[in-house]
Amino acid sequence: DAPSQTLAEAAPFPIGFAVSPASIKSNAPYRQTVIQEATSITADVAMKPSRISPQKGIYNVDVADQLIEFARSQKKRVHGHTLVWYIDTSPNWLKQIRDSTDLESTLQTYIQTVGTHFKGKVASWDVVNEAVDNNRGAIRKDSLNTVGKTLFNVGKILGDDYVARMFQYAHKADPNARLFYNDYGQETRPAKLSAIVNMANDFKRRGIPIHGLGLQMHISIDTPNEGIENAIRKSAETGLLIHISELDIAMNPGKKKDFAETPELLEKQYQKYKFVVSTYKKIVPASQQFGITLWGVDDGTSWIPGFCQCLDAALPFDANFGKKRAYQGFLDGL
Ligand code: XIL
Repeated sequence: DAPSQTLAEAAPFPIGFAVSPASIKSNAPYRQTVIQEATSITADVAMKPSRISPQKGIYNVDVADQLIEFARSQKKRVHGHTLVWYIDTSPNWLKQIRDSTDLESTLQTYIQTVGTHFKGKVASWDVVNEAVDNNRGAIRKDSLNTVGKTLFNVGKILGDDYVARMFQYAHKADPNARLFYNDYGQETRPAKLSAIVNMANDFKRRGIPIHGLGLQMHISIDTPNEGIENAIRKSAETGLLIHISELDIAMNPGKKKDFAETPELLEKQYQKYKFVVSTYKKIVPASQQFGITLWGVDDGTSWIPGFCQCLDAALPFDANFGKKRAYQGFLDGL
């Protein structure tokens, strides 16, 4: 057999994986897969605020720095994820702040400190993650997040335009970093998609430093192709960089207890990977292709089973780092 190309070799744009620094260190096939297949890496949790600043005024950057050193030694790009998030990865001390002046200056200080520390080491940041409501097509004012009995929501405390200000703070901290707004569900939620696109266009008009949109794309084999294509097209029409930032394709969207992989499911997964990748390649102009990042390396360490509380296998590599039909689907889409 002719040696087959890796994703990194075959792709005309960066290929990323979300990785855990601990697995990079201790899991040799995991590390090897990242080294061979990726050109970009995102930390799955190591650069989130709860990890970087578990206590007010304390900054733990060692784990992230080690990951960045690994990336540097392997000549991989690093995408920072994430500076501000309304929900679970904000540290508890931050979620207790209710005063708007206090919260604004706390987030400003956090972004300034973290952005400056990683300046020149990360190519880009997800500045704000998941700020737009799923159904209303507006900045989130609800909250899924409680500390004790109190609700925490950045949008409610700071007002809709906080997203723009976070971009300004991030740009001040690291003027060369490409700054992204990142969110999920654009492929099945039209109101959310338009709200994001409108916000991006509004930022551009006002000179707010936004450079890209991240579409997480945690989808399933049943997610309609039209919705995927529409989300990519409308996002690309902003003229911004487009990052498929957290791709995985679940095979058990019904969270069935008796789930078993079948050739039919694996074939549907093949088709969906191929569709996403080929659509991205076709629709997004080359100058706007920031790349496609898979959310995890292999089915054995994927976040999906923990999240859905079910069995699933949403990635192109199986738990033994074997290439699935989904891997071939990714390649065939390129
Ligand atoms: C997930 C991680 O993969 C998990 O390990 C963690 O427990 C929760 O967060 N959207 C995002 C990512 O933007 O940060 C999430 O990552 C997956 C959903």
